[in-house]
Amino acid sequence: MKANDVVIVSALRTPFGRFDGVLKSVLSMDLGVLALKEVVNRIGLDPAQVDETYYGTCIPAEYAIYTNVPARQITLLAGFPENNISLTIDRACCSSMTALRLGYRAIKSGDAEVVIASGAENMGNTPLIASAAKARWGVRLGPIELEDVLFELGYGRKGFAPVATDAGFVAEEYGVTREMQDEWALASHNKYFKAYSEGKFKVGEELMRIEIAQKKTSIVLDRDESPRNNLSIEKMASLKTVYGSPTVTAGNAPGLNSGASAIVLMSRKKADKLKLQPLAEVVACESGAGTPKYMACVPAQTIDKMFSRVNLNVDKMDLIEINEAFAAVTLVSLKMLAGKDPQKMKELQAKTNVNGGAIAIGHPVGASGARITMTMMYELIRRGGGVGVGAICGGLSQGEAIVIKV
Ligand SMILES: CC(C)(COP(=O)(O)OP(=O)(O)OC[C@H]1O[C@@H](n2cnc3c(N)ncnc32)[C@H](O)[C@@H]1OP(=O)(O)O)[C@@H](O)C(=O)NCCC(=O)NCCS
Repeated sequence: MKANDVVIVSALRTPFGRFDGVLKSVLSMDLGVLALKEVVNRIGLDPAQVDETYYGTCIPAEYAIYTNVPARQITLLAGFPENNISLTIDRACCSSMTALRLGYRAIKSGDAEVVIASGAENMGNTPLIASAAKARWGVRLGPIELEDVLFELGYGRKGFAPVATDAGFVAEEYGVTREMQDEWALASHNKYFKAYSEGKFKVGEELMRIEIAQKKTSIVLDRDESPRNNLSIEKMASLKTVYGSPTVTAGNAPGLNSGASAIVLMSRKKADKLKLQPLAEVVACESGAGTPKYMACVPAQTIDKMFSRVNLNVDKMDLIEINEAFAAVTLVSLKMLAGKDPQKMKELQAKTNVNGGAIAIGHPVGASGARITMTMMYELIRRGGGVGVGAICGGLSQGEAIVIKV
């Protein structure tokens, strides 16, 4: 144990909402504020102790038509001191894991002692826009057409394919069939409900209860809205594919979700000084990027890059979290990590996303990297310790990976 080890001392998230759920009109920043306040309150940490706050959010259109610099605003609205340094990060779905990596770096280098890595998204609150080309400069008289910037996440505008399409074609290339994707997705929901019945995903551990005052009543949420019960493989198999993908459907994709997550990182020395019990140590962080079409491969590539640098390997991991950007992504990356060995693939599958993944829990993109890290961490704690690797892909083939030890 070293004084400059980077440790996690608090980690939580809001429940994740459905696309059309109770949070659908709440600004993502407001969810970010709730998570930020609670992550310090829970451990009695004075926000004045926090040197820097990183905030991932990757559908800027959701807040940008109303306002700017969300990271700065959420720290002020959460009551953090005015001299708190903040940074908004957009590395697509990687963003809040990027926040963790930047926090890890800042503490390791001695630039900071305490950092918060957070992220939030509300995909259901994304506005439809009247573009300048079509409205301001296009229509002198007559109806105005609205654009949906959420559709295909807008990648088509610059000639890139929708992520679901790329993921499906790459899955086929790697021999990951539609049936395998549907089975993985069904298992994601089933694992979630088993975990929930065992007391996991209840308020107090990774989850916080949220209450948002409205004009007449309050919006209250104390559990994830997306998990689906009583599914059948036959119904999953009957779903139509989306966005022109050969395999991806509403069943084996995550939804378009809402939620926020936050993690407090500090040096071990600082945790000792503040008498805070570390929940886990961050052993390593890594970033990656690859060929845009091959987004499904980037979690495995980023894990390999990190492992070769820190001399670890996947067999030494007790748990793995690979974000279910689609079932295709988790399965392609596991196949790469297994070196296409079917027995090893089974072993890796058995320790991956053991309590369900984004397909069940939800994928509010900017919040997911921190979410998978804390889900894995709390499971390692329940098991009495161990080492785990988490990885996530982001649009156009960006990657982040993290190793934590409990
Ligand atoms: C896939 C997607 C287009 C589906 O959107 P949607 O049509 O609003 O989804 P819904 O939840 O309404 O589901 C569509 C239908 O499938 C059904 N369905 C969804 N999941 C199901 C499941 N697991 N089993 C059975 N049926 C299911 C729904 O009941 C619904 O049926 P209905 O039309 O009869 O009501 C949308 O969730 C999406 O874009 N997801 C990907 C998000 C993304 O790209 N994230 C970034 C990754 S990098």
